[in-house]
Amino acid sequence: MTVHVSLQGLAPTPAIVVSDEQASHVAPREALLDAAFGADRCEKTSERLREGRMPADRLALVATSGTRLVGTVRLWNVTLGPDRPALLLGPLAVDGTVRAAGIGGLLMREAIARAREEGHRAVILVGDEPYYRRFGFAAAKMERLWMPGPVERSRFLGLELVPGALDGARGLVSPTGREAPRWQGLELGQAWRIAA
Ligand SMILES: CC(C)(COP(=O)(O)OP(=O)(O)OC[C@H]1O[C@@H](n2cnc3c(N)ncnc32)[C@H](O)[C@@H]1OP(=O)(O)O)[C@@H](O)C(=O)NCCC(=O)NCCS
Repeated sequence: MTVHVSLQGLAPTPAIVVSDEQASHVAPREALLDAAFGADRCEKTSERLREGRMPADRLALVATSGTRLVGTVRLWNVTLGPDRPALLLGPLAVDGTVRAAGIGGLLMREAIARAREEGHRAVILVGDEPYYRRFGFAAAKMERLWMPGPVERSRFLGLELVPGALDGARGLVSPTGREAPRWQGLELGQAWRIAA
């Protein structure tokens, strides 16, 4: 998906392209996430559902402007309770110099469209409700789900891609994605962080 948005500070303004993440995006993505969330971001509860796993198929996206990575979003296979497949969205981040230009929205809309195309039924996340409600996320129907660690209830949000997909949702959210390849006992992401 290619979209022209107005980016002050990037002149001339290249189009923003939302596309599948590639291996060459790992380093700039990690740097962007460190800048957006801080180096302790891997201690978050959501990380317990991502560590050691691959993102869901077709659901690791980047936004680029020319050769520059300016945004990232990834979604992960989980189950809500024992037998309710869903996706966990996050992290979503946009380069601090180009925020409020619509890039986060582009990434979110493309991710949700692809999730629907892939036949997923629901997406959950932990994040700011005032931001995510514009995409349809709400805390309703999430009360009886819990994460593998502490989470603020008001930030624990869900989106039904299929009406009723979160009806009666109950139980622990657990990871179900493919295991990530390992390099000398380290996940590739960790290996890069040590090498950097
Ligand atoms: C949240 C984030 C991804 C949004 O990306 P973006 O490209 O700036 O978003 P968009 O341009 O699509 O949307 C901008 C709008 O979202 C609003 N917004 C941004 N962050 C918000 C937040 N945390 N809560 C409420 N509204 C927020 C802006 O005020 C703006 O509102 P407007 O449309 O009324 O002007 C980006 O601000 C970011 O990377 N933040 C740091 C990391 C982060 O907090 N990630 C999300 C986890 S909760």
